[in-house]
Amino acid sequence: MSSPSTNALYTDLSGYYDLMCAEINYQAQSDHVRRLHQIFGNKGQNHLDLACGTGPHVRHFLDFGYQSSGLDINQPMLLQAKERCPEAQFTLKDMCRFSVEQPLDLITCFLYSIHYSDGIEKLKECINSVYNALNTKGVFCFNVVDKNKIENNSLVRHTAEYDNSHFVFSSGWYYAGSGEKQSLKLNIEKTTQDETQLWQDEHPMVALSFHELEKLLQPYFEVHIFEHDYEKIMLWDNVSGNAIFTCVKI
Ligand SMILES: C[S@@+](CC[C@H](N)C(=O)[O-])C[C@H]1O[C@@H](n2cnc3c(N)ncnc32)[C@H](O)[C@@H]1O
Repeated sequence: MSSPSTNALYTDLSGYYDLMCAEINYQAQSDHVRRLHQIFGNKGQNHLDLACGTGPHVRHFLDFGYQSSGLDINQPMLLQAKERCPEAQFTLKDMCRFSVEQPLDLITCFLYSIHYSDGIEKLKECINSVYNALNTKGVFCFNVVDKNKIENNSLVRHTAEYDNSHFVFSSGWYYAGSGEKQSLKLNIEKTTQDETQLWQDEHPMVALSFHELEKLLQPYFEVHIFEHDYEKIMLWDNVSGNAIFTCVKI
């Protein structure tokens, strides 16, 4: 299971989650992965989004014509996903330990959520669950960050107005330089009239290099690593610290 703090985080966050992610181009991300799937996949259209959150990617995949479904460990996030995608099936499960009744053609995991596999052993369990759930030539596609390329002081920040309040969201990775854990720091500032509330979270997530990850995947998949650019399909340049892994079940 993921740590209780992860679940508490998303229970707290579920009401603000879409606001926090308002600047993310979910359409472009989904479309990019659809193109990768067209190139590498088996032409089947059974899709599962791991750690689907409030379901924005599932919405796009349904609209593309996929039989799309979602899995997440947090019930309040899934309730919102169901509202967004009433025709889809959502399952409350841990992505490190799941199985499916119908084999799948595409499994995705967006927004670095694969790192919620809390440690290398959990990540191996996640990879194993994905492998067992896929059809032959099924594709597993996710984005990930290389622990050795993390800039500890770099924060992504954005602001939003909602419900008569001003919000400042900021997030950034932290890696201490050794071991298999990194953390995601999240800060939310909510100002209503003159009163500001500050909300902060930091919890452990799996840390590894792209080469370590590739080694874990290679017994099961043909692994392609692409630049983290949702506009173009370009092979990873061996330099950048974010990438999109596209793994085809052997
Ligand atoms: C950063 S959000 C990403 C949501 C969505 N993929 C997106 O792109 O907006 C991370 C999600 O991962 C879920 N999560 C965390 N640990 C998980 C686990 N072990 N299994 C399944 N979902 C998990 C959280 O509940 C949360 O909804």
